[in-house]
Amino acid sequence: MFIGEGPGEQEDRSGRPFVGKAGELLDKIIEAMGFKRSEVYIANVVKCRPPENRAPENDEVRECEKFLFRQLEAIRPRIVVALGGTALKCLLHDEEVRISRLRGTFTDYRGARLMPTFHPAYLLRNPEAKKDVWNDMKKVKAQLEADLASSASI
Ligand code: URA
Repeated sequence: MFIGEGPGEQEDRSGRPFVGKAGELLDKIIEAMGFKRSEVYIANVVKCRPPENRAPENDEVRECEKFLFRQLEAIRPRIVVALGGTALKCLLHDEEVRISRLRGTFTDYRGARLMPTFHPAYLLRNPEAKKDVWNDMKKVKAQLEADLASSASI
């Protein structure tokens, strides 16, 4: 399961997460991992587009997170990828966490593993960070394969 920040203009219009430029890059990341978009679940922290594309404010996150937490309960993902700081702060309920410090390492999260990584929109502005995200996604893929192998041997 991938969790982003909130819908942009195109997402708001279509009602689907990550369909704009950042979404195209997320699709490439998912494909490079060997998955189809239909095999992963993509959600956002906030469910409506904040005016002028500003970052969602705390009260907006608190209002929307109950829907996100219900999505998590319904999907029960093995791995949650937090895309960027807003998703990470919301999931950990910690305003002080920094994506640049936590990215690339798993933490246990509500019966799943949480992998924080950079947001695709950040990668569009900072392409040199793509290699970090790719390393993070290789860890996700390896963990999924290890989980699969261990469940097959039971
Ligand atoms: N950025 C996000 O965080 N979510 C989207 O759905 C699109 C862009």
